[in-house]
Amino acid sequence: MLKKTKIAVFVSGGGTNLQALLDAQKSGILQSGEIALVLSSNANAYALTRAAEHSVPSAVVVRKEFASQQDYEQQLKQILTEYDIDLIVLAGFMSILSENFTAAYPKRILNIHPSLIPAFCGKGYYGLKVHEAALAYGVKVTGATVHFVNEIPDGGEILMQKAVDVLPNDTPEILQKRVMEQAEWILLPKATEQVAKALQKGI
Ligand code: GAR
Repeated sequence: MLKKTKIAVFVSGGGTNLQALLDAQKSGILQSGEIALVLSSNANAYALTRAAEHSVPSAVVVRKEFASQQDYEQQLKQILTEYDIDLIVLAGFMSILSENFTAAYPKRILNIHPSLIPAFCGKGYYGLKVHEAALAYGVKVTGATVHFVNEIPDGGEILMQKAVDVLPNDTPEILQKRVMEQAEWILLPKATEQVAKALQKGI
């Protein structure tokens, strides 16, 4: 049998996308890879509880505890090597990664972004801010994008996208929830399986 692709999920907050990946692992939607590590930028992230509930090892690495970005990323790399990680999935990870880090894992870092890239993405667009911007612009369709991560914020190759309607009277919170339910929680496990499978086969 082929060895499963070892996945690290990077989180910072609630971790509903991590939950979608854990559920996908259980249901078999994610079968070519196994979630071997949850790494959080924040010691209080609820995502850490989700990891513990599923007996997935976790680590907390906080940027401000390091003198430089280089030291911080060196620590991340060391942990990834310790756990023999093949694929990194950024699932609501709010800490910036430099080119020094992203270049070390070409086509091995995935990110989920809560809009249809190239709309409402790049520096400053994260979490609820993305949905606030979509509502302020007045778009009638938004969605989510899974892409490979490179040195350009939200600029790497797009793997999958899914559109979601914006409805009258939407608030950023209501829209965020719809985008998660109708797009993110479906798309991220699917894209993760696709990449994990390709890596497993050495493609
Ligand atoms: C998700 O909506 C994710 O797409 C977004 O943060 C939220 C995290 O929620 N990510 C970004 O904005 C990245 N630029 P979660 O912790 O419940 O998965």
